[in-house]
Amino acid sequence: GGRLVVLVSGTGSNLAALLAAHDDPAFGARVVGVVSDRPGIRALELAREAGVPTAVVSLQDFPDRTAWDEALTAAVAVFSPDLVVAAGFMKLVGAPFLARFGGRVLNTHPALLPSFPGAHGVRDALAYGVKVTGCSVILVDAGVDDGPIVAQVTVAVEDGDDEATLHERIKLVERGLLVDVVGRVARDGYTLDGRKVRLGG
Ligand code: GAR
Repeated sequence: GGRLVVLVSGTGSNLAALLAAHDDPAFGARVVGVVSDRPGIRALELAREAGVPTAVVSLQDFPDRTAWDEALTAAVAVFSPDLVVAAGFMKLVGAPFLARFGGRVLNTHPALLPSFPGAHGVRDALAYGVKVTGCSVILVDAGVDDGPIVAQVTVAVEDGDDEATLHERIKLVERGLLVDVVGRVARDGYTLDGRKVRLGG
């Protein structure tokens, strides 16, 4: 099966869904490492509880963004991934990372891209007043949440929603979408610019 590395910054509900799926050989991928940009988060605990090795690469430990990105790249490369998934990873990866893993990095985002990219997709959608939002799984490229869209699911905004209630409902469908896409990509690859991309493993 494909070797999957998950990048995290927070609660890890998407990571938990991937960990719940990966024991099934039919899933096609296995989480072989979890890498965070900060210590002490729930996602790291979840990885440890599942017996998956972890690494923490904090921006503040490096002189600049490039040095951090190179360290992140090295930390991920240790696990020889076929596929990297940013699941609530709240930093942008840079040129060194994409030079190594480009075309094999997926990101999940809690809005219907290209609307509401960035760190506050749920808050921004709510503030705009949209009646329908959702989540997107995209391929990561050099821009901010503007890589090719792989899959999306809609979620209705309800009267009285605040950022927390809406994000919670988005996350319920987001984890299912992510597990579905990761399994599909791991098993069958994907099409980019009309070209079939197959992953190793
Ligand atoms: C998810 O909703 C994910 O889409 C979002 O953070 C949440 C992480 O939840 N990511 C972004 O906003 C990236 N711009 P989790 O830690 O429980 O998986």
